[in-house]
Amino acid sequence: MSNTANAAEAVPHFSQRRGLHIVFASTSGHTEYVEDALVDSLQIITPGWEIKAAIAEKMQPPDLLGGDVLLLASSTWNTGSVEGQLNPHMWVLLHDDKAKTLDLAGKPCACIGLGDHRYFYTARAADHLQHYIKVHHGRLIVPALKIIDEPYGQEEAVRVWGRQLVEASKQVDWC
Ligand SMILES: Cc1cc2nc3c(=O)[nH]c(=O)nc-3n(C[C@H](O)[C@H](O)[C@H](O)COP(=O)(O)O)c2cc1C
Repeated sequence: MSNTANAAEAVPHFSQRRGLHIVFASTSGHTEYVEDALVDSLQIITPGWEIKAAIAEKMQPPDLLGGDVLLLASSTWNTGSVEGQLNPHMWVLLHDDKAKTLDLAGKPCACIGLGDHRYFYTARAADHLQHYIKVHHGRLIVPALKIIDEPYGQEEAVRVWGRQLVEASKQVDWC
C-alpha cells in the first residue's frame, strides 16, 4: 500500500470529524466524573471527534451553539426546597434572557442527568434538559442517560451510551 493510501486511512473522513460540545454542571463532582468517563471512552472509539467540555458557570447562552453536537449534563437539585430541579449553575445558564430566545436550529443534542434514588423526582435534571432542547428546536438524537446514585462503578453504562451517541450521530443528516 502506498504512503498516500496510508495517510488517507489515518485521517478520518471529513464527514466523521465532529465537534462535540459538552456543557455540564456539577456540585460534588459526580457529573464531572461522568463527563470525564464519557470523554475518555469517546476519545478511544472516535479519535476523529473534537471534544470540548466546559462548566455551565463559565458559559454564556450563545456558547450553546458551538460545535456540531451539543451535550448538556446536570445533576438534580432541590433548589428553593423544591425537589427535581436543575443544578443551580445550569438553571442560571438556561434561564438567562439570551437562553430563553436561543434557537438551536435543529442542532443534534443529547442530555445526561444525575440523581439519587432517595428523592421522589429522581434524576429529573435529564427531563429538564430534554425539555429545554425540544422547546429551543434542538434535535435529540439519543434518549437521555440517567445516572442514579454515585457514578463510581457505572462507567460501563456511560461507555454503552457513548457508543449509542456516536452511532446516532452517523445517522444524522448533516446537510
Ligand atoms: C442539596 C441537594 C439536593 C438534591 N436534590 C435531588 C433531587 O431532587 N433529585 C435527585 O434525584 N437527586 C437529588 N440530589 C442528588 C444529586 O443529584 C446526586 O448526588 C448527584 O450525583 C450529584 O451530582 P454532582 O456532584 O455532579 O452535583 C440532591 C443532592 C443535593 C446535595
